[in-house]
Amino acid sequence: MNVYDSQRIVDVLAPHGYAPTDTVDDADLVVVNTCHIREKAAEKVYSELGRLRQLSGRRESEGKPRLSLAVAGCVAQAEGEAMARRAPFLDVVVGPQGYHRLPELLARRTRASGCVVETSFPTDSKFDHLPTAASPAGVSAFLTVQEGCDRFCTFCVVPYTRGAEDSRPVAAVIAEAKELVANGVRELTLLGQNVNAYHGVGPDGRSWSLARLLAALAEIDGVWRLRYTTSHPADMADDLIRAHRELPQLMPFLHLPVQAGSDRVLEAMNRRGSADDYRRLVDRLRRARPDLALSSDFIVGFPGESDADFEATLALVRDVGFAQAFSFKYSRRPGTPAAVLRGQVAEAVKAERLDRLQALLSDQQQSFNAAFVGQQVEVLVDRPGRKPGQVAGRTAHLQAVHFDGPATLVGGRAVVKVLAAERHSLRATRPAADRVALGAVA
Ligand code: 5AD
Ligand code: SF4
Repeated sequence: MNVYDSQRIVDVLAPHGYAPTDTVDDADLVVVNTCHIREKAAEKVYSELGRLRQLSGRRESEGKPRLSLAVAGCVAQAEGEAMARRAPFLDVVVGPQGYHRLPELLARRTRASGCVVETSFPTDSKFDHLPTAASPAGVSAFLTVQEGCDRFCTFCVVPYTRGAEDSRPVAAVIAEAKELVANGVRELTLLGQNVNAYHGVGPDGRSWSLARLLAALAEIDGVWRLRYTTSHPADMADDLIRAHRELPQLMPFLHLPVQAGSDRVLEAMNRRGSADDYRRLVDRLRRARPDLALSSDFIVGFPGESDADFEATLALVRDVGFAQAFSFKYSRRPGTPAAVLRGQVAEAVKAERLDRLQALLSDQQQSFNAAFVGQQVEVLVDRPGRKPGQVAGRTAHLQAVHFDGPATLVGGRAVVKVLAAERHSLRATRPAADRVALGAVA
C-alpha cells in the first residue's frame, strides 16, 4: 500500500509543478513514506532523516535552493509532534489519511510556523479529494479499495495508524480501474489492509462485497488479471470463495495470512479462528479453484509461544503447503496489547525459530516452482529482463519469469515453456512456433 500511496503523492504534487526525480540529489522536495509495522522499519526512518539532513546542509553551503523534507505514512502518524521535535528540520509530518493535503501543508510551512504536523483522522475520506491515478503504472497496477482495519490483532499497529475500516465506493474504484486500463494496465491488484472486509457502497445504494466488486471489474474490457491483498481468513465470505471458481480473471494465487499454527497463540493474537479453521478454509478454496496457490504471513516468538506452539506452526505449514510466504520475528509495538503481555520470547529463540520456519518455507517454494519445469505457462510481460534481449513478467501464480524475447512483448501476454526453476524465479523459453509466427508477421 505504501507503493500505491507514494504514486498517489506524486499525482497530488504534479499539478503544483513537481515531478519525480531519479536521484535524491536532484530533488527540491523529498517525501519519506514510512512503515510502522515492525520496529526495524520504523527505526530506519530516523537514520534516513539524518542522511537527508546532511544532504540539505551540503546543498545550503553550496548556495543551492533549500531542500524541503516531508515524512508521510504510519511512522508520521504514530509519532506526530514527537517527530517534529526530534527532527525540527522537517517541513511536514503527515499521516496516511492526510497526504492529499501535502501541497497546502507545504505552503503553510514558514520559518515561524516550524514543522507542520497533520495526523488527525478526518471524517471525510481522502479518496474524495485525490485526483484520479495519473502516474505511469506499467501493465500491472495496485488499486486501493479499502483502508484501515477493525480487527485489532493484539500485535498490530494498523488499526491505530491507518485507522478504522473504510471502503471506497464502487463507482470510484471502477472509474480508477478504467483510467488505469486506458493507460495500458492489464492486471489490477486490489489493495486493503483487510481487503476482503470490503463493503463499499454500490451504484444501487447497497453495500457491495469484494466478490461483487471483482465481478464488476472483470467485466471491464482489457482487464486480464485480478488479484486482491491482504485478506483475513475470518472474512473469506462464501461469495468470495465462489468467485475463485467463477471468475477466470481472478488469478489462482491468494495471500491469506494465518500468522501461527497454535490455537493458544492464535487466540492470544485475537485472530478469531483456529488452525483447523484455516485448514478447512484452504480446502474449500482449493475445491473452488484446484490450482490455487497460497501465500501467508507468519510471526514467530509471539509472547508466550512455547516450543510446542511453534511446532504447531511448522505442522500447519507442512499440511497446507505454501507457494511463498513472509515470516517475521515478533516485534513489540508500543501501544498494542501484546506489547505488555508476559512471556516475551528471547531474541535468540525467535531467531532460531525464524530460521527453521524459513528453511521449511523455502523448501516449499522451491518445490512449488520446480513442479512447473517442462510446463507451458502464460506470462504477463511487465518489464525488460536483466540481460539484453530478455524480458520478464509474472505467471498466474505470481512467479517471476524471464526469457529471451523482444522488448515489444512488454505490456502483453506470452505463453512460454519453463526450462528451470530457482527459488525466486523461473527461466523459460518461447516455443519455436511462436517465434516463427511472430517473425513472419514482422
Ligand atoms: N511483529 C511482527 N510482525 C508483525 N506483523 C504485523 N505486526 C507485527 C509485529 N508486531 C506482520 C504480520 C502481518 C504483516 C503485514 O506484518 O504477519 O500480516
Ligand atoms: Fe493488523 Fe491485519 Fe490484524 Fe488488521 S487483520 S489488525 S491489519 S494483522
